[in-house]
Amino acid sequence: MNGSLPQRGRIGAEQSQILVDAVHRLSGISIAPTKTSFLEHRINRLLQTSGVANVEEYVKHLRVNPTGLAALRLVEALTTHTTSFFRERAHYDWMMAVGLPAVVAEGAGLDRPLVIWSAACSTGAELWSAGMVVDGYGRNRNLRWDLVGTDVSQKILVKAAQAIFEEDDILPIPEEMRKRYLLRSRGAPDAKSRYRIAPELRSRARLGWVNLLDLPSGMALTADIAFLRNVLIYFDAEDQLRAAANVARRIQPGGYLLTGHSEGLASPPPGMTLVAPSIYRKE
Ligand SMILES: C[S@@+](CC[C@H](N)C(=O)[O-])C[C@H]1O[C@@H](n2cnc3c(N)ncnc32)[C@H](O)[C@@H]1O
Repeated sequence: MNGSLPQRGRIGAEQSQILVDAVHRLSGISIAPTKTSFLEHRINRLLQTSGVANVEEYVKHLRVNPTGLAALRLVEALTTHTTSFFRERAHYDWMMAVGLPAVVAEGAGLDRPLVIWSAACSTGAELWSAGMVVDGYGRNRNLRWDLVGTDVSQKILVKAAQAIFEEDDILPIPEEMRKRYLLRSRGAPDAKSRYRIAPELRSRARLGWVNLLDLPSGMALTADIAFLRNVLIYFDAEDQLRAAANVARRIQPGGYLLTGHSEGLASPPPGMTLVAPSIYRKE
């Protein structure tokens, strides 16, 4: 990559196609090449930060090395990481009332650790929310449990591992949980407060890079409850089923898969039954 000044610019139809094909190949994310203003906005930002002069040159890098640095940066540039604590709150209420008692009845947390997997974890807000719920449920039951967070974006995984959030981020967390699971950082007196997830949750979490469309067969993970939320919308119908099947394969019998409330799958993943809106149970 050269150091010449980046030029903002329009992206032609052929270049759009090459860029969306590359990101699809690497992550399954399906972007219509006609979404030119979205592509131009994200790609121009990418050119600025990567020091590549223009989109033609970026495409050349992709052609020379379709899985190299330019390709990885493209995935980073085109992924969307919107998330929040206790997003789609109904799933957490369901966990407390139904999901956790059901998986514990199957031996999770007792004979073996109970595992919660946030399969497209973004900053970790989903993972830590689930951790707060499990900790509350398990505290007087002496449960053993772990958290696993995975994502296709290396950058967001670094952020998830830091587990540091701004004042606005923590607003959806119930007050008593904030007191218990957040540590306020002592910055300059006039600086905005920042909050770090407490070690009792962080110490239970493993974070790792995965592409949900291409999960390594040797991946040592079997979850009792897997969150696969607000990521399927970025895949085409075939890849949605593939990603859901890949995750379902790594769920314990009697365990659950949660999808986003707006992400209806065309059919339940193999071996799973829809038991409530956006909640599947493994037979
Ligand atoms: C919109 S966020 C959703 C975060 C969280 N699950 C939630 O519901 O709030 C989507 C996340 O999916 C990740 N992602 C996209 N494609 C992926 C893939 N093929 N494998 C794993 N993660 C992927 C993105 O990097 C992003 O962090």
